[in-house]
Amino acid sequence: MTHRPYEIDQLISAKSIAARIEELCADIHAEFEDTDKLVVVGLLRGSFVFIADLVRELNLPVEVDFLEASSYGDGMESSREVRIFKDIRGKIEGRDVLVVEDIVDTGHTLNHVVQILSARKPARMKTIALLDKPSRREVDLAADWIGFSIPDEFVVGYGIDFAQRNRNLPYIGKVRFTDQA
Ligand code: IMP
Repeated sequence: MTHRPYEIDQLISAKSIAARIEELCADIHAEFEDTDKLVVVGLLRGSFVFIADLVRELNLPVEVDFLEASSYGDGMESSREVRIFKDIRGKIEGRDVLVVEDIVDTGHTLNHVVQILSARKPARMKTIALLDKPSRREVDLAADWIGFSIPDEFVVGYGIDFAQRNRNLPYIGKVRFTDQA
């Protein structure tokens, strides 16, 4: 499948992403303005660009940690079985936590991660996803903040990959296979 030829059509420009991050950060500030430190937990690997832009727009004391979970492997379909490859390093009991996801698709990944982290008793925990594909949802879950709601398209760029490629595009694009009409 990954050998099929494809092109990438821009869906969300770098400028639109930057503008939306400013808006999201205003909301995050309002929620966490009294925090002594916010632990920003990025879900690897797709959120690495988003989290980098997000924390630089946040005028709050932050700590950055990462967790790697995966339900996709190298293909285009979620396996629904979420595996944790790398846990966060820090303790979050009694802390303020913001979980950062690239895309909420079926919702299994974020749901699983939220369950694991909630069990560690953070004081407050909120979730943010750059992209949301509500039509694909299989579990009843909504991130607290969403950058953009998108249709059921396979997207790449701004940290998001197709079989580990295209993460370095500065915009979000959708994959269009060129070997079909
Ligand atoms: P979920 O568990 O089905 O919600 O899947 C979430 C994860 O699947 C995201 O963190 C992405 O890594 C991956 N994913 C979902 N949709 C896409 C896509 O359109 N392009 C690339 N990765 C995706």
